[in-house]
Amino acid sequence: MLEKIQQLINEVNALKATSAEELESLRLKYLSKKGAINDLMADFRNVPAEQKREVGQKLNELKTLAQDKINSLKEAFEAQKAVAEKPDLTRTAYPVELGTRHPLNIVKNEIIEIFSRLGFVLADGPEVEDDWHVFSAMNFAEDHPARDMQDTFFVEAHPDIILRTHTSSVQSRVMEVTQPPIRIICPGRVYRNEAISYRAHCFFHQVEALYVDRNVSFTDLKQVLLSFAQQMFGPDTKIRLRPSYFPFTEPSAEMDISCNICGGKGCAFCKGTGWVEILGCGMVHPNVLELNGINSKEYTGFALGMGIERITNLKYQVKDLRMFSENDVRFLKEFEAAN
Ligand code: DAH
Repeated sequence: MLEKIQQLINEVNALKATSAEELESLRLKYLSKKGAINDLMADFRNVPAEQKREVGQKLNELKTLAQDKINSLKEAFEAQKAVAEKPDLTRTAYPVELGTRHPLNIVKNEIIEIFSRLGFVLADGPEVEDDWHVFSAMNFAEDHPARDMQDTFFVEAHPDIILRTHTSSVQSRVMEVTQPPIRIICPGRVYRNEAISYRAHCFFHQVEALYVDRNVSFTDLKQVLLSFAQQMFGPDTKIRLRPSYFPFTEPSAEMDISCNICGGKGCAFCKGTGWVEILGCGMVHPNVLELNGINSKEYTGFALGMGIERITNLKYQVKDLRMFSENDVRFLKEFEAAN
């Protein structure tokens, strides 16, 4: 038995293979269930007790040797294969297709840029908010009907936790930790429980602006609005303010711009009026200042909020709101030039 083992050890030591198939047949010959080494293992039962130790050791030596040998031959083959398959570094590059920025991002960036030139800095807050920051701190009374103006998504089992329905919550987030002067611009996603159609979605995007300091007046608001409208829609754009109501501003207004599709002559988009509404605004309600730790006797402020989808529609006439969230690359490609 010992001689047989030794003979196999010699054989294994001398093994060579020139192809993967050959290597596999060697593995089968020595290491498989029906291979030579397993045959010897079976014979081991018949070895007399006093020789078992020596024969056992030799047998193990053979087995390890055979495994090592086959493995090292296999590695050598794989290394050869890797060299053969190495990429051709002299080939010219693939044409790399550039992506395009999302239209809502293009417009959002433009709005931010315009407001930053006026000294506003970026601020943000969470989309999953509490009732306080979205409603109470913005002067919506507990049973105020204005809370129904917005269809809110509540987090089940936590009625106090909601998805923010407007970016006005960021006003409160900033004011509670900052004393004036405050001049912020806050873009972000908001959620409302609406059935999805071509003109409504359960999430959309807004930009909020807030300016609080000593002696901030409605005149400042009006100038900022005019400057924004003309930079966004062209120097001939006109604005008009209509009285409105929001719990967090007093007085409140809605701003229309002269329809930039027909230039104010009247078309389907502006329903023949020559004007389109683009944002809500007003002087920050003294209650809002006080609720957020700012002295309303010393400071005044203005705020405004607009929907990014609406501004984008005006600029690019996207007829179906759902296009913004479907990410059809053919739609996104249309904005290549605007990038
Ligand atoms: N939060 C209002 C909305 O979602 C928009 C708005 C109106 C924001 C007036 C303001 C504002 O800051 O002053 O409809």
